[in-house]
Amino acid sequence: MTPFLSVPPCLRGERSAARSGINYEFPMLRPAGPKPHFLIGNMPLARRDPLAVFSKWSAEFGDIFYYRAAWIQVYFLNHPDLIEAVLVRNYQNFLKDHVIRKSRWFFGEGLLTNEGESWLRQRRLSQPAFHRDRIASYARIMTGYASQMLDSWKQDETLDIHQEMMQLTLRIVVRALFNVEAEQIGAISTALNVMMRNSTGIRLLLPPAARYLPTPAMIQFRRAVRRLDETVYGIIAARRRNEIDSGDLLSMLMQARDEDGGRMTDKQLRDEVMTFLLAGHETTANALTWTWYLLSSAPEIEARVHEEVDRVLNGRLPTVADIGALPLVEQVVTESMRLYPPAWIIGRRALQDYRIGEYLAPARSILVMSPYVLQRDARYFPDPERFNPDRWTPTFRAALPPFAYFPFGGGPRRCIGESFAWMELVLVVATVAQQWQLRLVPGHPVAPQPVVTLRTKHGMKMTVHRRLGRCAIE
Ligand code: HEM
Repeated sequence: MTPFLSVPPCLRGERSAARSGINYEFPMLRPAGPKPHFLIGNMPLARRDPLAVFSKWSAEFGDIFYYRAAWIQVYFLNHPDLIEAVLVRNYQNFLKDHVIRKSRWFFGEGLLTNEGESWLRQRRLSQPAFHRDRIASYARIMTGYASQMLDSWKQDETLDIHQEMMQLTLRIVVRALFNVEAEQIGAISTALNVMMRNSTGIRLLLPPAARYLPTPAMIQFRRAVRRLDETVYGIIAARRRNEIDSGDLLSMLMQARDEDGGRMTDKQLRDEVMTFLLAGHETTANALTWTWYLLSSAPEIEARVHEEVDRVLNGRLPTVADIGALPLVEQVVTESMRLYPPAWIIGRRALQDYRIGEYLAPARSILVMSPYVLQRDARYFPDPERFNPDRWTPTFRAALPPFAYFPFGGGPRRCIGESFAWMELVLVVATVAQQWQLRLVPGHPVAPQPVVTLRTKHGMKMTVHRRLGRCAIE
């Protein structure tokens, strides 16, 4: 059993051991929680608005609460110390939750779904590919594709900005992974688009039998996965024939060796590549989409962003060296991921009984942590619903408890693509804001859709206006 953890004194519970009659060596308390339906318990994820449900329960029950989803026991942790204990200090007591593990049939043994020794070896082999210096070489890809996207925009036209951001981040991650020519990027993007259109993420989680259903959507989906596999294996085979460093992530993954000199097999490379393709583009696209929405609703902040990018860049494309000189852009992105964290929920399954202060989460129970809920907690973020990038002063950051803000998770399984994502977000926002102003179409409904990532339920219809005096940047 994991060591006793000190928890805030506000934690209160009912004596479930007394009720169930189970004889534990110490009294087992269960935190309070919402009233369950006698058969199914509580099913927050199946409700119309899971974000509102979790937020309401958190306000009602505080730092920790319990609910049962059918037969699954769930402990929701809503305090930075409790979250740090699970993700960092006691991480060995947990596996990824069943939702992530179910997507294994597609991701195989990729980093997102892998566990144990095999995960550790792959993480060590992949880490150098995400080293800051290596990532810096992708800056030009990011600004180059952002510029290309802007060239296709027309004055005052209405676009679904979510779709624009999805295409942009997909092209960026494909190019960073493979450094292939436009034709192959097109093939990979088309296959991934078909998959995404036919999946909404959920199909990845279907039980094995359902994947072979002869429905048009499943047929298209399977065909797209096959096409993607063929393309990726084709690129890997070509690389194996002439072992040159193409300057991309795949080259780094292929060159990496473990301490015994072992390298990744083709299957392992395929699994990691598929993981990076999917984990690395929808998350970033969502963060960008929400950022444009927030800026559109805060014209005075947007005006200051325009002033910053004009002053620092003076009409040229941003580079890695400019990032430090764009503090407001960085604060805007930070605040956007506070309000709309793309990975809005993180789950773990306990391998053994796990004590949380006076409570005990039994083996196989699920521990849930939500950046969305905690990052809107007034204890850590005064006036939490307000989009206020100015709150991110150095003093505020220093005083913030670790894990009050955790859009990239934490501990050994922290997002490997974090530096890549930060760089991409700042560079893309700076590139676009230099030339265009985006405005939400009046009356367009805006609502978050908490699926695997935090999407926009109705897309994001915006009109794009070229900023006065700003012409396309060479
Ligand atoms: C704004 C963008 C992103 C956000 C918010 C984000 C968020 C996260 C979070 C919260 C986790 C941890 C999940 C958990 O502990 O259960 C994670 C893991 C991961 N992310 Fe990201 N991510 C982003 C971008 C990226 C990019 C650009 C890549 C790759 C190119 C990437 C690849 C991965 C991988 C491979 C893992 C699994 C790491 C492991 O378990 O070893 N992510 N991400």
